[in-house]
Amino acid sequence: MATVQMKVHPEDLSHVPQARERIPEPGIMVIFGASGDLTKRKLLPALFHLKQSGLLPERFAIVGVARRPLGDEFAADMRAGIVEYGGVEANDPKIDEFAKHISYYALSFDDASAYAGLKAELERIAQEKSIGGDRLFYLATAPEYFAPIIENLGAQNMAQPEQGRVGVVIEKPFGHDLDSARELNHQVNAVFHENQVFRIDHYLGKETVQNILVFRFANGIFEPIWNRNYIDHVQITAAETLGVEGRGPFYEKAGALRDVVQNHMMELLSFVAMEPPSSFESESVRREKVKAWRAIPPVPVHDAVRGQYGPGVVEGQKVIGYRDEERVNPESGTETFAAVRLEIENWRWAGVPFYLRAGKRLKKRATEISIQFKQPPLLIFNRMLSGGLCQEIQPNLLTIRIQPDEGIALRFGAKVPSTPDMSVCPVNMDFDYAAAFGKSSANGYERLLLDAMLGDQTLFAHRDGVETTWALYTPILEAWATKNPEVFPNYFAGTWGPDCADRLLERSGHVWRNNLGR
Ligand code: BG6
Repeated sequence: MATVQMKVHPEDLSHVPQARERIPEPGIMVIFGASGDLTKRKLLPALFHLKQSGLLPERFAIVGVARRPLGDEFAADMRAGIVEYGGVEANDPKIDEFAKHISYYALSFDDASAYAGLKAELERIAQEKSIGGDRLFYLATAPEYFAPIIENLGAQNMAQPEQGRVGVVIEKPFGHDLDSARELNHQVNAVFHENQVFRIDHYLGKETVQNILVFRFANGIFEPIWNRNYIDHVQITAAETLGVEGRGPFYEKAGALRDVVQNHMMELLSFVAMEPPSSFESESVRREKVKAWRAIPPVPVHDAVRGQYGPGVVEGQKVIGYRDEERVNPESGTETFAAVRLEIENWRWAGVPFYLRAGKRLKKRATEISIQFKQPPLLIFNRMLSGGLCQEIQPNLLTIRIQPDEGIALRFGAKVPSTPDMSVCPVNMDFDYAAAFGKSSANGYERLLLDAMLGDQTLFAHRDGVETTWALYTPILEAWATKNPEVFPNYFAGTWGPDCADRLLERSGHVWRNNLGR
């Protein structure tokens, strides 16, 4: 398909501030679960980059907390993470400079008596570095420790100090069904006020996700047609080529619906579907998102399908099936692929199907939203179509590429030049973030960590939001738990998933868009 590139001219960017002016107050970030992968791969590299961008205060400290006594091993591991995942040269002196802000404290998360020691250690660091009362507790542990850590912080009066801003960041998964999410909310809110709680979903930190709101609400041409009168259906795909990457025990309990659909994909859906908020203030945005989710009626069990990958070939490499992965049950019934058909019963969307699918070990890595518009009457072209000169006339399609190749494309029909008749071919107008702005978008964690330090909750999940999305998916999870899938594995690694996902769309005369990416 022919593609027209769209450029941004440097003078259009001259008024854009290079960095945000707001810098958090001096404070301490305490990372529980500091010896885990997330800290090494995402959190420390993100904090390093924030520091290099001048977005962290001069006086700040990061205290890693985990069970094992690690000492120097922790510092070495974090350095390795900054180099490997932060794209920094190993001998860059800025790493030494940054490392001065990091320390480690060994503690068993569920040992209530150990928290007095942590409190004293934080006070010691604060005094040594002249830091006030600002604290951000980041829970990057296994989910079963969220509640004990919160309770223990509360018992030591660490959640509500006399001075400074204190917050708690809670990683996903936030609960594993509606009841557990409710209970966790209850436990969290027994210690922290809701305005101190940051339930993280790293998709909300992605520039391309935030750009959905700009695209919709800052551009006049799409808003009038962003509704059931003009849109035929919406597809949201989160396709990964990776498998479970050694996270077998976690994934066995999660599965694709819990891991990605209930959170990341529902966030994407809410940005596409919500009504314009009255401002970008946290409360307004969150309210509109919850309103959109609440308009989704219960999903019939036959509108949700699941799959599990067997062995196959992904990007030219042979890979094993899910059941052969490390620490996975050889007869596992966990889904590595899920697809659902949803409707949103409100004035804007009634009758427009939203299809969501997420899977591991698929053919290509791509997270995309495609909005297919209704066809106009094509009567005048009908005769010509049998002539063979043109491809079938395709409906307009707006594609928002969340990752990789971040950008937006609009497909429309164009006349094939130098043909005697009105031959039509689909062409693309394509906006590419990296080509237009000369850099790829930042890692979502940078933005979210900074917002949490500043106390801005706009890009974090609210208690009502997580409960609403869990309410939607819990009946499906329960139905799946009582009925084993008949044939697992049901798709080969390196394909687009199981046949049942195709049938889900066929019922409404739709097909998945599989030529994802640029
Ligand atoms: C995480 C899931 O939340 O998101 C992972 O636990 C998944 O299983 C990941 O791979 C996908 O994130 P991204 O940013 O790579 O699309």
